[in-house]
Amino acid sequence: MFEQLKRRWKVNSLNLLLVICTFAIGGSLCGYFGRRILLMTGLEKGLSWIVLYIIIMTLVWPFCVLLVSLPLGQFSFFKQYLGKIGQRMFQKKSKKVNVAIFASGAGSNADKIIEHLHQGDIRDRNAVVKLIVCDKPGAGVLEVARRNGIESLIIDRDRFFNGDHYLPVFHKHEIDFIVLAGFLWKVPPQLIAAYPEKMINIHPALLPKFGGKGMYGSKVHEAVIAAGEKESGITIHFVDELYDHGKIIQQATCAVAEDETPESLAVKIHELEHRHFPETVERLLNVK
Ligand code: GRF
Repeated sequence: MFEQLKRRWKVNSLNLLLVICTFAIGGSLCGYFGRRILLMTGLEKGLSWIVLYIIIMTLVWPFCVLLVSLPLGQFSFFKQYLGKIGQRMFQKKSKKVNVAIFASGAGSNADKIIEHLHQGDIRDRNAVVKLIVCDKPGAGVLEVARRNGIESLIIDRDRFFNGDHYLPVFHKHEIDFIVLAGFLWKVPPQLIAAYPEKMINIHPALLPKFGGKGMYGSKVHEAVIAAGEKESGITIHFVDELYDHGKIIQQATCAVAEDETPESLAVKIHELEHRHFPETVERLLNVK
């Protein structure tokens, strides 16, 4: 339970102890002041006494914990904590952005994106990965979905390319944004049109070089090395009707060593992807 609290509040053990002390002392102080105020009203114990007591406690409690948090060095934690409570009570909830991730492979990028978007308290999340879409039964990304409690959908080739493109399913899940993270099928135009500038892809090279049909996985890295490139990298771009072609959003580079192999380059590229992709997705969702 303490470990859970440390993760949720993003504090270390000492701060957790001080936070709990602040809650305890602040609560007692609040009870003390509450009773003093009630005594001044001269009310007899009864229903109205209880109602007034609850109202006074609710109003006085934030001031008491803030006061106690000062000497215990926890003021900024409680300022933020109370701010969030206030937001939940008084602010109209903005709609969460629902994301679908399409992937065909191991799903390490999907995993990093989920970890990034789903950190912190579930009630404070502005974006959620609602659906993992996969074309390969048994792909690692399905395990990523299961581990994170996210629904997954295995798509059928004919339905995807010729049928209804699964649009009704995405509408049912209220999907607002689609992230292709190692998805090998070309997305049909009808689906692209339904998500204008709301569908992005990551490519493991510096586009426009080394992209297009057949350029995926280690084939990309082999081509980069065979061309004698000194630099490779990643490209995050909007999806359009051509393979690896839409407007480029972001690129990041890494050096290609003299003795580079497709395997060693793949490790460097994955590292770049994991570092940049989740933050770029979050920025595009406009939810930070
Ligand atoms: C990534 O390198 C991505 O750029 C490419 O496919 C790979 C997917 O890796 N399109 P993972 O499944 O996310 O581990």
